[in-house]
Amino acid sequence: MSDRLFIFDTTLRDGEQVPGCQLNTVEKIEVAKALQELGVDVIEAGFPISSPGDFESVVEISKAVSWPTICALTRAVQKDIDVAAESLKYAKKGRIHTGIGTSFWHIHHKLNSNPEAIIERAIEAVKYAKKYVEDVEFYAEDAGRTENEYLARVIEAVIKAGATVVNIPDTTGYTMPHEYGEKIKYLVDNVKGIHKATISTHCHNDLGMATANTIAGVINGARQAEVTINGIGERAGNTSLEEVVMILKSRYAVLGIDTGINTKNIYRTSRLVSTLMNMPVQPNKAVVGRNAFAHSSGIHQDGVLKNRENYEIMDPNDVGINESAILLTARSGRAALKHRLELLGFELTKEKLDQVYEEFLKLADKKKDIRDDDVALLVGDATRQERRIKLDYLQVVTGKSLKPMASVRLDIAGEKFDATSAGNGPVDAAIKAVKQIIHRQVTIEEFLVQAITRGSDDIGKVHMQIDYNSTIYHGFGANTDIITASVEAFLDAVNKLPVAE
Ligand code: KIV
Ligand code: ZN
Repeated sequence: MSDRLFIFDTTLRDGEQVPGCQLNTVEKIEVAKALQELGVDVIEAGFPISSPGDFESVVEISKAVSWPTICALTRAVQKDIDVAAESLKYAKKGRIHTGIGTSFWHIHHKLNSNPEAIIERAIEAVKYAKKYVEDVEFYAEDAGRTENEYLARVIEAVIKAGATVVNIPDTTGYTMPHEYGEKIKYLVDNVKGIHKATISTHCHNDLGMATANTIAGVINGARQAEVTINGIGERAGNTSLEEVVMILKSRYAVLGIDTGINTKNIYRTSRLVSTLMNMPVQPNKAVVGRNAFAHSSGIHQDGVLKNRENYEIMDPNDVGINESAILLTARSGRAALKHRLELLGFELTKEKLDQVYEEFLKLADKKKDIRDDDVALLVGDATRQERRIKLDYLQVVTGKSLKPMASVRLDIAGEKFDATSAGNGPVDAAIKAVKQIIHRQVTIEEFLVQAITRGSDDIGKVHMQIDYNSTIYHGFGANTDIITASVEAFLDAVNKLPVAE
């Protein structure tokens, strides 16, 4: 048996069936091109009979993509197959994916049929599709709940009719990994002619077992896995591409099976799909979640810095994440902060690092996780401490129906000065109080406030331009309190003025 697993991506068909995830044709082409670069073997591009949009997408994706096989889904219905064949006319390699329900539920309660008639319809559909394309995949819908003996008869019949791939979907996500593995093994051992076709897995995640079932299927002889990016798909989703691929890569010594996936494109493709489909990736999602490589506890961070493999079983670079995103929190140690600063290009002396670390701990108490922007601003703050005019104290009283009042104390070259002022807002009051102390004729030309990341605990970043003697000076400030950030920005600019004679 081959040691190569074919990756059949159904993000644009099963994934796209999710309410709210619909893409237009241009977006689908973008995803299809990304899948091609990722190295998938088959792209299931749509269900052409279902809508003119799906039909057009299969046509356009067939034109846009050069080497992966383009697959179109049908029911075991001649009209569906005709339309699918038409949609694939530009495909360099086209596949028709036809099939029918084979479980007791589907045969009796959905199709109002009987097991023998279903086998006949399956054979007919495959033979009919064969008139158009050589590559015909047959799916036995709800194979997970189909009795193995009957499933083997169906599969044997469709292979005899010419199916090149036989798909064994666990449509309802009900099967357990040992059962799914046994099912595949049963087919390998009992279907005459099984070696003429590739067995495919197609698992849904209703009970969180999609990936485990897929791997069990592969261990027992399946050589195609049907997957989606980020595991998106009907209800709880499909098996996720990134999980299957990285399991095979990480556990190659045990499994000995490879894929043709360029794993370095995984993260980028995950982001693209998530953005275009408006489907956020859960932060703790395996392989591609925001926290998948983020170690927040001090002990873990220290361990990772000493040797990545202490806590990481995969190299984030292998999936296209450039650096193990060590999440900085109140529990992070000095070593983690120093490491992050170095990555950001800051080489600090021990004294400066101590100072930044102290500020970092204060910020971490106010803010859940600290990002690169925050760290860069802390370094900026430490530098500000060396300035001539420093903000020593600021108190603001403001609110609805209150006249805003600010009290300010500045430290100017070691001497303290106090002032109080009212204003038409808290920032205005604080700046007026500062102006009373500095005695310089400055006017604010631009005042820009921005949130850096998100959330109400975010840091506000202020950019100010002031005019002094017809020259513009820029100042920056950042703080979880935007009034403090504004005063800091103002003082940053004022510190750049020529020292008064
Ligand atoms: O889950 C399923 O059974 C399917 C088939 C149409 C392949 O998506
Ligand atoms: Zn499905």
